[in-house]
Amino acid sequence: MNKEVKIDMSSVLAADKDWWRGGVIYQIYPRSFQDSTGDGIGDLRGIVQRMDHIASLGVDAIWISPFFTSPMKDFGYDVSNYCDVDPMFGTLADFDAVIEAAHARGIRVMIDQVLSHTSDQHPWFAESRQSRDNDKADWFVWADPKEDGTPPNNWLSIFGGPAWQWDARREQYYLHNFLTSQPDLNFHCPAVQDALLDAVRFWLDRGVDGFRLDTINFYVHDKDLRDNPALPVDMRDDSIAPRVNPYNHQHHLYSKNQPENLAFLRRFRALLDEYPAAAAVGEVGDAQKGLEIMAEYTSGGDKVHMCYSFEFLSKHAPTAGRVAEVWDRVGSVIDDGWACWAFSNHDVVRHSSRWNLGDAGLRCLTTLMMTMRGTACIYQGEELGLTEADVAYEDLQDPYGIEFWPEFKGRDGCRTPMVWQASNSDAGFSAGKPWLPVASEHLGRAVEAQEGNADAILHHYRRAIAMRRNELTLAKGEQSPVTTQGPVAVFTRTHDGEEIFCAFNLGEAEAPITLPAGDWQMMGAELGGAAPDATTLAPWQCLLARRAI
Ligand code: BGC
Ligand code: MG
Repeated sequence: MNKEVKIDMSSVLAADKDWWRGGVIYQIYPRSFQDSTGDGIGDLRGIVQRMDHIASLGVDAIWISPFFTSPMKDFGYDVSNYCDVDPMFGTLADFDAVIEAAHARGIRVMIDQVLSHTSDQHPWFAESRQSRDNDKADWFVWADPKEDGTPPNNWLSIFGGPAWQWDARREQYYLHNFLTSQPDLNFHCPAVQDALLDAVRFWLDRGVDGFRLDTINFYVHDKDLRDNPALPVDMRDDSIAPRVNPYNHQHHLYSKNQPENLAFLRRFRALLDEYPAAAAVGEVGDAQKGLEIMAEYTSGGDKVHMCYSFEFLSKHAPTAGRVAEVWDRVGSVIDDGWACWAFSNHDVVRHSSRWNLGDAGLRCLTTLMMTMRGTACIYQGEELGLTEADVAYEDLQDPYGIEFWPEFKGRDGCRTPMVWQASNSDAGFSAGKPWLPVASEHLGRAVEAQEGNADAILHHYRRAIAMRRNELTLAKGEQSPVTTQGPVAVFTRTHDGEEIFCAFNLGEAEAPITLPAGDWQMMGAELGGAAPDATTLAPWQCLLARRAI
């Protein structure tokens, strides 16, 4: 009799507690990935339908942006029920199907947890705003006005204007770091922490493998509500908010990054440690101290596993000098901590446009990402080399873009639908009218169009990810400081008797390269890499070579 052997993938997956270290994560923005219902909005069943594409990339995990019940004022980053699926995206059973489809292919599932704030439609907020003495009166950050009626302090919202909104019923202001419809939860209240951890447990029990924690450094605010000092003009940095946003004029000493957050993160980690191999990556939004906070939150093995900062999400192109500078700072602040790197996500201009890169540049940076120490996070469509779409004002959806338009056009240009087929005007994304238009210039880069072309960038992504997966030294090894040889960034990775030399010409001109003397063996030929005896690198060429040590 032919007996089918059924492997329980979820227990196989659970076995490697350290999977996240050096893994590759694929970020899905569910609204724009695949629509299965014809309403023009991507959904959970759509993710199931496209799981083979994800598996074909060879990634370790997916991170799915929020799909929870929400009025969608910030497209799901405004949650009104932490423990349910918004009908627009499907049902809890559909989510179970996502987990099953992913686990069957050896892919882990990470979900977004937006714990810092809720939607103003969340029942917790509805109750809290009723009076000053209800059971949830202190679940959000309420404060009396100053004597002259103005807000209690000078804190600003990232999405524009003061961080305080007046509420007539309580005759008090409430804090919001983002939209007025995203009231900030009060983490100084233990019951709030308990309720949030219960929600996290709900998803762990449902089988998720980890979390991306939204705005992790915004959880706790200064109890005394002290004013933030002004930031001198020459210290302003627009890496997390656009230049035209006055948010950049302040040093956010008191509105975020508070020491009490560490105690909450330890509680969070203790919960995750009850499960076999759950891991979390925290998003750190801070223009001044992003790496220091990453170091603090990921040290000691008792807070989050990884943090995600804006070093490579900013407008600064990763020239050799910039890569060296970032790693210099990493080397000086991060000891036992762990970074998760990304070039693109659903909040920033796609890196091909942000850094004005052609395909050669995109390929080179992908290889660089897969050779750097840390966890790598790629964003849907990046594997196709998609550019930022130019969304017309009348099609804009993002409130952030509508607020600051035209100086800052918001985040819709990186959120347009995935392109699956070139032959269909909606690119195989939806049978209905997509919530954001498909960018016509993306059609030629559709998955189907690239599949048959071995030179296409999609295959480069697969090869680069495969190399990292096959080389323990790249996934887990130590990394030397990054040095520069003109436009070429150079570093080595070492692990268990092996050294891998990595050099990347991050410029537009041919450049000389010298390897240290030694018995080097070529790697990365399939990625267009040069041989170890090369004396020059073409623009955007890399050289990868290994030797025993
Ligand atoms: C998310 C954004 C969101 C914001 C507020 C983030 O950093 O990535 O998309 O608008 O948090 O939740
Ligand atoms: Mg749909």
